[in-house]
Amino acid sequence: MNIGVVGCGYVGLVTAACFAELGHSVVAAECDASKLRILQKGQSPIHERDLPGLLRRHSGARLQFRQSIAEVVQHAQVVFICVGTPALHNGESDLSHVDAAVREISRCVRSHLLVVEKSTVPVRTCAAIRRAMILNGVSPDLFSVACNPEFLREGTAVRDFLYPDRIVIGVGDERAQRLLNRVYRPLTSGKYYRRCDRIPSGSSASIRIIETSPETAELIKHAANAFLAMKISFINAVATIAESVGADIGEICTGLGSDARIGSAFLNAGIGFGGSCFPKDLYAFRALADKAGYRFDLISEVIRINDDQRVRFVEKVRMALSPLRGKHIAVLGLSFKGGTDDIRESPAVEVLRRLIHEGVTVAAFDPAAMIRARKEFPEAAVRFAADPYKAMIDADALLILTEWPEFAALDLSRVRNLLRSPIVLDGRNLYSPSQMKTAGLDYTSVGRPPVLADSTQTESVALTSSADDASWTTGGRPSLGTAT
Ligand code: UGA
Repeated sequence: MNIGVVGCGYVGLVTAACFAELGHSVVAAECDASKLRILQKGQSPIHERDLPGLLRRHSGARLQFRQSIAEVVQHAQVVFICVGTPALHNGESDLSHVDAAVREISRCVRSHLLVVEKSTVPVRTCAAIRRAMILNGVSPDLFSVACNPEFLREGTAVRDFLYPDRIVIGVGDERAQRLLNRVYRPLTSGKYYRRCDRIPSGSSASIRIIETSPETAELIKHAANAFLAMKISFINAVATIAESVGADIGEICTGLGSDARIGSAFLNAGIGFGGSCFPKDLYAFRALADKAGYRFDLISEVIRINDDQRVRFVEKVRMALSPLRGKHIAVLGLSFKGGTDDIRESPAVEVLRRLIHEGVTVAAFDPAAMIRARKEFPEAAVRFAADPYKAMIDADALLILTEWPEFAALDLSRVRNLLRSPIVLDGRNLYSPSQMKTAGLDYTSVGRPPVLADSTQTESVALTSSADDASWTTGGRPSLGTAT
């Protein structure tokens, strides 16, 4: 089929590349000229697993990038709107980019076109798009409108697209339903999964298409993101209690998540959720509920717990290093989660900002987000290191703020030897406390009792430290809660 995509952010770009991967012919529009140049060279402007491979495979052939929406509409039977919907100051979604896209699409419709809303939008946006197109002079029999929300996580978006749990289709007429079913047939028929050149995935591909009204589809997306955010805030609240009573949040999650009615996904305690989706979508959902006459206080509480989680972590750093002013810390992780270079609403960035404000200097490392982070922080406050270990040299403490897999596999004796003080504060619970204790590290995490280094281990680690890493001596090592 001929497909169009408007907007090449992470949702639009993954959508365009994956439709090309499914065998469709795709033209995608991007208005940012510098991004467009990168895309037209077959490269990816974002860090997203599997995307570079798909772009190399399809760019210039089944996948074309253009600046003008007109060329997209000329090409397509189905156009997916994937433009940004940022939050306004009152929490509502700013639909001006959707509006502009619809105006431009309306100008160009010549034969029947299915316009599909993929960005997360308030309920009744599909109906508003339909109205706008009619007001823009497009005859109702020349177009259909549908909602097909995305459930793509940054970092695993390509696999989420190709191996979805479900596909939600909100349609108002049979033609739209037929067209969307055809778009996804390579997945629903299993044809894609029989290809030997498919993008591999551990998950099995049994796909459920949920056909419903556009309003219901729009609400499913809002409710899904709010529910996932609620799970995270719930477990973070339990983690706070666990800290007070000496319980272990990891074991609580195992006990809780083993109940099939609850499930273990999205129950990782830490410094909270961030990103371009959850925070914005929660505000939008609450604003939408307000408009519908319902005070959704549960959402306010989810937001409050999430905000608190960062503040509580900074407090732990303060306790471990007090006084903070003049201390030098190593930070691993800047992106809002592992697997992405996205730092929007990143809890790591927020924690760092607060610590810098309190007078610490920072050496930071992130596998993908340092280029973006450089624009956020003054040079004097943050030095960006070439690898995790270089960030640790002579630091008064190590902070782990993003759940990159490589941060869970550090050489702990090297860590021990590089740090001036063997203090690790882990905002993502990547290590077991006993492992850190044995490695000679004072370790504070989230929802688990802090541990002090095993001092016999500490001596032996110190004695075997390599000359390269030796910036630490056995004397004067502080215990948790004291200053160097
Ligand atoms: C989220 C949803 O998971 C997608 O289904 C949805 O399509 C997307 O928003 C969107 O609306 O576009 P994303 O924001 O990419 O995807 O990332 P998630 O994997 O959901 O993580 C969000 C945040 O929650 C991250 O900061 C992550 O570190 C945090 N998190 C996640 C936790 O703190 N604990 C967990 O157990 C899981």
